[in-house]
Amino acid sequence: MPMKLLTGILLIAILSTSADARCSRGCDTALASYYMWLNSNLTFVSQMTQAEIPTILSYNPSIPNQDSVQAGARVNVPFACDCLEDGEFLGHMFEFRTFPGVTYQTIAQTYYSNLTTVDWLQRFNSYPAFSIPDTGVTLNVTVNCSCGDENVSKDYGLFVTWPLKEGETLESIADANNLSTGIVSRYNPSANFNSGNGLVYIPGKDQDGTFPPIASRTT
Ligand SMILES: *[C@@H]1O[C@H](CO)[C@@H](O)[C@H](O)[C@H]1NC(C)=O
Ligand SMILES: *[C@@H]1O[C@H](CO)[C@@H](O)[C@H](O)[C@H]1NC(C)=O
Ligand SMILES: *[C@@H]1O[C@H](CO)[C@@H](O)[C@H](O)[C@H]1NC(C)=O
Ligand SMILES: *[C@@H]1O[C@H](CO)[C@@H](O)[C@H](O)[C@H]1NC(C)=O
Ligand SMILES: *[C@@H]1O[C@H](CO)[C@@H](O)[C@H](O)[C@H]1NC(C)=O
Ligand SMILES: *[C@@H]1O[C@H](CO)[C@@H](O)[C@H](O)[C@H]1NC(C)=O
Repeated sequence: MPMKLLTGILLIAILSTSADARCSRGCDTALASYYMWLNSNLTFVSQMTQAEIPTILSYNPSIPNQDSVQAGARVNVPFACDCLEDGEFLGHMFEFRTFPGVTYQTIAQTYYSNLTTVDWLQRFNSYPAFSIPDTGVTLNVTVNCSCGDENVSKDYGLFVTWPLKEGETLESIADANNLSTGIVSRYNPSANFNSGNGLVYIPGKDQDGTFPPIASRTT
């Protein structure tokens, strides 16, 4: 009986979330801002994100080659931004293969450089945190993304998922991306830019170095 009740509640929850769907389609590309930690390298980032190194480099004109990436740099990694869970949100499921000693915390905070969280990993993986098989099973690593918002501006159609770091401010992020604070805050109306955690979405540049408009992204 309690099981039936639980199933009922779950069903209602699923039905009601799909009723006020937040996306109807995704977009070909979003960018993940990967903060390089000490001893990380593009080979590793490529393995985590299933993006080829030359493709990653094509979105990062300031990085001359893969061996010149410094710890503390941010690297934009392209990925497909999909409309997930029957339109509940925009994101992408990366695949991560487990090995002995791995935890949701290291996956979120180190291997995916805070592009996801422990909570968000637990939501998409059936294994409880204390018993993740270490035998090379595949975990779902979901990273949120944005395709823009035509009510804010049609001039921006490619977005960077940017994990906030300690010490950052709205001004520092706008500066780093050569954007006005106004436009950055309009895309993130409820963000606390000084909090040192959480995700914000920043207009990003295409491989040709320009901000692609929304029209070229959605059809
Ligand atoms: C790249 O980084 C990973 C993770 O820190 C490390 O295991 C690997 O040896 C590094 N590869 C190179 C070529 O430095
Ligand atoms: C991720 O966030 C945690 C908690 O704020 C922090 O300790 C860690 O250094 C961050 N990871 C990276 C790669 O910046
Ligand atoms: C991703 O987006 C969903 C829906 O807006 C939100 O509930 C979730 O907390 C976000 N996850 C992360 C890691 O920010
Ligand atoms: C990953 O997600 C898929 C559905 O997209 C699901 O079938 C699979 O069981 C999930 N993997 C884990 C480890 O929970
Ligand atoms: C834009 O505004 C219109 C009218 O207020 C609304 O129907 C629509 O859902 C909004 N679009 C987005 C992406 O928020
Ligand atoms: C910032 O934008 C201005 C005006 O569009 C441009 O002249 C300048 O080169 C840009 N700087 C960087 C670092 O992208």
